[in-house]
Amino acid sequence: MIKNVLPAQPKNAAEKRKIIKMDIKSIEKIVSLSKRRGFIFQSSEIYGGLGSTWDYGPLGVEMKNNIKNLWWHDMVTSRQNIVGMDASILMHPEVWEASGHVKNFHDPMVDCKNCKARYRADHLSFKKTCNKCHKSISVSFPTEVVNDLIKIHGKVGSNELSKLSKGIKVEPCPFCKHILSTIELKCPSCGSYELTEPRQFNLMFKTSLGALADSGDVTYLRPETAQGIFVNFSNVVTTARQKLPFGIAQLGKAFRNEITTGNFLFRTREFEQMEMEFFIHPEEADKWLDYWSQERLDWFKSLGVREDKLRLRPHDSDELAHYSTACYDVEYEFPFGWSELEGIADRGTYDLDQHNEHAKKKQTYFDQPNNKHIVPAVIEASAGVDRAFLTCLVDAYREEKVNGEERIVLKLSPKVAPITVAVFPLVNKNGLPEISEKIFNELQSEFSAFFDQGGSIGRRYRRQDEAGTPFGITVDHQTLDDNTVTLRDRDSMEQIRIPTDQAVSKIKKKLSN
Ligand code: GAP
Repeated sequence: MIKNVLPAQPKNAAEKRKIIKMDIKSIEKIVSLSKRRGFIFQSSEIYGGLGSTWDYGPLGVEMKNNIKNLWWHDMVTSRQNIVGMDASILMHPEVWEASGHVKNFHDPMVDCKNCKARYRADHLSFKKTCNKCHKSISVSFPTEVVNDLIKIHGKVGSNELSKLSKGIKVEPCPFCKHILSTIELKCPSCGSYELTEPRQFNLMFKTSLGALADSGDVTYLRPETAQGIFVNFSNVVTTARQKLPFGIAQLGKAFRNEITTGNFLFRTREFEQMEMEFFIHPEEADKWLDYWSQERLDWFKSLGVREDKLRLRPHDSDELAHYSTACYDVEYEFPFGWSELEGIADRGTYDLDQHNEHAKKKQTYFDQPNNKHIVPAVIEASAGVDRAFLTCLVDAYREEKVNGEERIVLKLSPKVAPITVAVFPLVNKNGLPEISEKIFNELQSEFSAFFDQGGSIGRRYRRQDEAGTPFGITVDHQTLDDNTVTLRDRDSMEQIRIPTDQAVSKIKKKLSN
């Protein structure tokens, strides 16, 4: 049985939206620190930036690589029954027909004709005045209602929805219990009732192959890395000689033309995924769904993320993707509410079945104990690198007052921190820089190290606190006398004096604690 599943879940779409209200102030502080210290820059900034696209700077790329390397180690290299692969981003367009993405991978989009704001229809909630008690209440359209309306009527406008919502089961007024019979669509941004009809909008980016591209050469940037695994299932089975249950893992970029983006790195149009497809005997799906949900929750804890900010949330039936029959999300409590970091989904035999129906070559698995070919089922663990990165940043961010002075510190796990140790000569004279450089060279062969000789020592400590560097070595005049240095701990700010030649072993010991 899965632990850490919250029993109390949001009951309806309105409640779900309430918890994702953004705390702009806190996220702005993270954006500002990220820029100041070189974690994240706005993409194409000198041209005014491109919405919701971000570049990883010198510290950001180190930290991102640490997260990816930890995932690869924990999911692939430390396990006997999971192998890795790296498929191309561009795939045959029929892959996306077969996978169902061309037909089903879309969101209902609504535009405000007045202020031009754009929304996902299923993310909107509407204020309505109850026509009995006249109190203002919030009403929402659950995804399934919008999708059903679109299925039945093609496009539906606000008037249409008002009419059609008669007879749809709508929540009663929370104040007087009067059952509401109509719903008015209203723009949450400007309050106008002038909204376009919800239109289904496919999230895949189209592109063309070749110099003389015509409509026959259209393909897509992959919206998930998973399909690269499914279409290579037989290739991997025959070459890696794996027996069920076994997994295939892959890490790489994915692209979605999201209708609404935002919350910094949380929802972008270009992002990176860490996905593992675990192939099993179909009757073992529940067992492996539980196993991987717990494993993946524990993985985020192993990055040093606070346990009370993490949870597993089972999906409601109206949230499930077109390929999945059950799913748990690992969620983190961001300043803008509990939000998904990773989905662990039971994809059944859907994907292999679909490719077996559409492709020229069939992909099955020979089950030796039962002496027959079967199509294995799949439990998928699909995480976003950028969301894991944002989680580590947000979770580590602290503002502290120390001896009357404020400091901002990133209490990152040393496993994730971009720099493990910084070396500081106290002053830039009397041979201290030379000794420091020697110590730095030794440390650099063991850890990610940084040499900083600019500015007052206090300012240098503050800079490294903001970079999340767990350890600092300071070389001072006493070093000249007794060959000792100070080792500073980022979190406690405690400084202890240690022999210079013990710097590596002391830090290694602290890292292993
Ligand atoms: N193959 C299954 C799949 O792609 P998903 O829930 O759509 O499932 C998996 O995506 C993970 O990818 C999410 O949990 C999230 O971490 C990340 N992700 C999805 N869309 C994203 C976006 N627009 N920006 C950043 N990360 C995203």
